[in-house]
Amino acid sequence: MKAIEIKKDIYWVGGIDWDLRSFHGHLTQRGSTYNAYLIVDEKVVLVDTVKHYLYQEMLERIKDVIDPSQIDYIVSNHVEMDHSGSLPKIMKICQKATIITSPNGEKGLKKHYREKWDFKVVETGDSLPIGKRNMQFVLMPMVHWPDSMATYIPQDKLLLPNDAFGQHIASPERFDDELDLGIVKEEAAKYYANIVLPFGRQVKKALDAVGELQIDMIGPSHGLIWRTHLNEIIKMYTKWADNRTEEKALIIYDTMWGSTEKIARSIQDVFEGKGIPVQLQNLKTNHISDIMTNLLTAKYICVGSPTLNNGMLPTVSAFLTYMKGLAPKNRVGLAFGSYGWGGQSVEEIEQILKGSGFEMMEKIRINYIPDKDTLDEIKEKLEKEVL
Ligand code: FEO
Repeated sequence: MKAIEIKKDIYWVGGIDWDLRSFHGHLTQRGSTYNAYLIVDEKVVLVDTVKHYLYQEMLERIKDVIDPSQIDYIVSNHVEMDHSGSLPKIMKICQKATIITSPNGEKGLKKHYREKWDFKVVETGDSLPIGKRNMQFVLMPMVHWPDSMATYIPQDKLLLPNDAFGQHIASPERFDDELDLGIVKEEAAKYYANIVLPFGRQVKKALDAVGELQIDMIGPSHGLIWRTHLNEIIKMYTKWADNRTEEKALIIYDTMWGSTEKIARSIQDVFEGKGIPVQLQNLKTNHISDIMTNLLTAKYICVGSPTLNNGMLPTVSAFLTYMKGLAPKNRVGLAFGSYGWGGQSVEEIEQILKGSGFEMMEKIRINYIPDKDTLDEIKEKLEKEVL
């Protein structure tokens, strides 16, 4: 296992999780990496660690550069265990090391590991000399945990912001210009949509703070390191943090006997007729985390379910619970579905979309199987609502 030098005397010493396919429910088809960075100056610094089961891989990469017992500081930018999981083991080797973290980082690490480690707590604007360099710290609370922070090395114009700007990609490539940029951007969008989306306000604050720094490389804690397309990823984050949408429609549904699907296809016709790109997302065949990636910039969110046992189908209910938690804003919603009797599903969907702050179009609720006239009527009504 080799370390990769990303700047003079600064090394990527992370772990590659080739087999990861689910990150607490977020489908990670391309696996992931946990990026740890080793800075060798008068003081030796390890920035973040890796998931516990990749400890040995990280250790070997560190050993490729130095004796790990020489580490003076370990910066913990984020408590979540994909980045702190190897702290207990590495701290046994570098017992003189001090852990540098935010105030919430100290609290979180103590509650996770119950160890009597030496902590140095830092705030935004604090800096720590380590030789030719000094490390600076920017707290980024709720991007995406209360403890999250970024480490900045001005001498190298290097920002290490942990989860921010990350992507779940396992690959032999380390830099954004070494892999198809479309893949890197798609995974960055998926990461944002499924993890960072609820925290737009805090992301904007973090972007403001980062905007004041001179940066020519961003080393996130997952995926590829940004050294060529920095402006693009910052622009993308700015757009996503603002919840800026495009004239794009998503029709998300499940169906029992095909009636709700018939309504979905009529809705599709209306958007297509208006020249608005539309994606049909059947919940039986699409994963909710992939749907969220498509939803990230879609203005129109149409959700359909037939009524089963006086409510929605469980797939639709699960999607709405997930989406509501991720709190997309500035959307136009539409609830639709067929029913035999009762017919509560459409009302339930509408309440959730409304409760999420969506501006609502008139709901579509059809008894049993819609015939051609009914579908034509649906289209006629909807055409007036979609501008
Ligand atoms: Fe990559 Fe929030 O951990």
